[in-house]
Amino acid sequence: MQQQKVSDATQKSKLLARQVEELAKQYETMDRTGEPFGTIVIAGMGQSLASKGRDIIFCAESIISMRVPDVVLDATEKNLREMALHREAPFLGIPELRQAIAQRVKNLYGQSANPENEIIVTSGSMQAEYYLMAATLNPGDEVIVPVPTFFFDIPVKLARGKAILARLDPKKNFIHDSSDFEKLVTEKTKMITVCNPNNPTGRVLGEEELGGIAELAIKRDLLIMHDQVYEGIAYDGRKYVPMASFKEVRDRLISITSFSKVFNMMNYRLGYAVGPKEIIRGMEMVHSFSSMGIPSLLQKGAVAALDPEFERRHLAETIAKLTKARDYGVARLSEIDGLRIHKPEGTNLLLADVSAFGMSSMNFCKYLLNEAGVACAPGIAYHIEGHVRISLGGDRIEEAIERIARAIEKLPIKKKE
Ligand SMILES: Cc1ncc(COP(=O)(O)O)c(C=O)c1O
Repeated sequence: MQQQKVSDATQKSKLLARQVEELAKQYETMDRTGEPFGTIVIAGMGQSLASKGRDIIFCAESIISMRVPDVVLDATEKNLREMALHREAPFLGIPELRQAIAQRVKNLYGQSANPENEIIVTSGSMQAEYYLMAATLNPGDEVIVPVPTFFFDIPVKLARGKAILARLDPKKNFIHDSSDFEKLVTEKTKMITVCNPNNPTGRVLGEEELGGIAELAIKRDLLIMHDQVYEGIAYDGRKYVPMASFKEVRDRLISITSFSKVFNMMNYRLGYAVGPKEIIRGMEMVHSFSSMGIPSLLQKGAVAALDPEFERRHLAETIAKLTKARDYGVARLSEIDGLRIHKPEGTNLLLADVSAFGMSSMNFCKYLLNEAGVACAPGIAYHIEGHVRISLGGDRIEEAIERIARAIEKLPIKKKE
């Protein structure tokens, strides 16, 4: 068969895309799927087994619940006809939603954000994270990314920046020590990322850790990206402290939130950023010349989620449900020889150290999928090899934990600590 000719221009256009793909590939072995992100690979394998009739429980993707709240569905449905006939939304988002966001951050954190120019609505928080990098980084600028964490290094790379990974120590409970981060600061460092509550460790950062990062940012003139998509999900009465409570960094802080997690609105693909107006303006520029806005119908539905009374109730119910799942998971899995559990302080995520069993995290997840019929996320996707992450949000979580536990109990321990 004749090989299709690839033009030089096509080859060149792939340069950055290839580099990004290579970086993403490090998250797993690619298999035959071509999918660069390990969590999606395992979830996809699970789907394929399920389509052949196998009973699979999905705990790979971070989902709290697929049940979009009725208030949101009702508001979306009610406004469908009217909104469908509207012009598209302003690039920053519909004013009503930006107003509701401004009110929310005021109520919850005493943070004043001008809805006219300090808030941008995006297609999920991931888009906000990329827009932030694209708006602020010049080629070669460095961003300190404490890991394990969600894959912030990819948007940094896409924006032609350089992610400098700062490894947190599992033995020290993944404490964020700003003096460690300071050693990585160079004249090219422009930003530090903070994921709090943290995916995948389940940690909820304390005031002291956050204060250290705030001080460092001021001392070395850095921006701070605070990913708070698991905002407020903290257990055992632990207080969730947003970076925004440090008033002295508000001029260098971009707080990024999602409707996917806390409000179960995964497929609305809505998130937002709150930050200084110059940066929000930059993000608006990237937005306007790439996507030209977010469907206003969905934004209208999201306004209903931000009703303070509804949110309080919804968050309390979510925490109660997740606490039960977390307690069950921690108790059952802690019984297993060789397995080390990082007890979640918040989020819907439970991280387990499986290194004693001598398999890569990707192979361990494949084993759990085949043996237990449960899809979990490989640690490698979050910069922590030798671990698996279990999402606790699903309806059959206790059954999933039990199946995982039994499958692991069959494994010989290869490596003692
Ligand atoms: C820490 C963190 N940030 C961002 C995202 C992206 O969420 P979305 O784009 O759906 O808002 C996720 C999704 O799992 C996440 O865990």
